[in-house]
Amino acid sequence: MGMKQRILVTGANGTTGREVITALHHRGVTGIVAAGSNAERTAAAFSGMASAVRLDLTDPATYDAALDGITKIYLMRPPAISDVQRHVAPFITRAAERGVSHIVFLSLQGVEHNHIVPHYRIEQNILASGVDYTFLRPSFFMQNLATTHRDDIRTHGTIVVPAGSGKTNFIDVRDIAEAAAIAFTEDGHRNTAYELTGSEALDYETVAAILSDACGKKIVYTSPSIPAFFFHELRRHTPVPFILVMIMLYTVARSGKAAGTTDTVRKLLKRDPITFSQFAHDYRHVWVDG
Ligand SMILES: NC(=O)c1ccc[n+]([C@@H]2O[C@H](COP(=O)([O-])OP(=O)(O)OC[C@H]3O[C@@H](n4cnc5c(N)ncnc54)[C@H](OP(=O)(O)O)[C@@H]3O)[C@@H](O)[C@H]2O)c1
Repeated sequence: MGMKQRILVTGANGTTGREVITALHHRGVTGIVAAGSNAERTAAAFSGMASAVRLDLTDPATYDAALDGITKIYLMRPPAISDVQRHVAPFITRAAERGVSHIVFLSLQGVEHNHIVPHYRIEQNILASGVDYTFLRPSFFMQNLATTHRDDIRTHGTIVVPAGSGKTNFIDVRDIAEAAAIAFTEDGHRNTAYELTGSEALDYETVAAILSDACGKKIVYTSPSIPAFFFHELRRHTPVPFILVMIMLYTVARSGKAAGTTDTVRKLLKRDPITFSQFAHDYRHVWVDG
């Protein structure tokens, strides 16, 4: 009774974190705490919406200050952290010891069949901690086209991913954030896992056509082989471990196994998921000059 809610949003400056803060704020939630590598920069980014703390999951000395007064956590796994036993598990343990009551964890579609991914281990750690959980298991982010693949599209008008003609289900990160906000603020979402997807699976020819329409310029899917993609990313100075993770993910997409579509977003959000066309329209400034 009466304990003030304080929700820590990890990866606040990242793709999902900032949208989670926005979605919570729009729901009238106060007591949002944004966690970033630089507290001042993070505070400035969310001024009027959230306070800020520094959190470095690789540095346990930052845990207690970040967890001060926190009752719930939006947890994401930074892509740079692969040894989650060492760098994420202790944070979950500390959160449990300090009485955090609910963790909404950004996991991965298909995690229940793929026990080698770090997200599986994190889910197991959360289960073992005894803290109430909501696992969000999304498909591919539409926003990958606006972040990881942005420069190819913007500068060269090309989408360079080794997905062949396989279809991929894409979800808009804003729908994931809304699902997180609902899990935090409404009853009935604890100790549940949600497979979150958009409404359709698309091949990258279709993705290129939709982006071309939205941007008013020709964008071409180059459909590289896996070795060609590897060298393309090396030339862009992408770190080799990231290239290998992308090859793993796009090999799944190539096989058509990333096409799975659920109606979970519609059930949770009580509206249709954001379409790829809507996403392309909303983000078109990312791929065109001026
Ligand atoms: N992309 C997809 O299609 C997809 C699909 C399903 C699941 N996922 C999962 O989504 C997760 C990534 O989420 P995202 O896209 O929201 O993240 P993101 O945009 O990659 O942002 C990563 C954030 O992590 C923070 N960070 C980096 N190192 C950190 C550390 N040592 N301790 C604490 N925070 C640290 C950074 O904070 P600062 O900016 O403050 O430095 C950054 O803002 C991954 O686990 C990925 O597997 C992705």
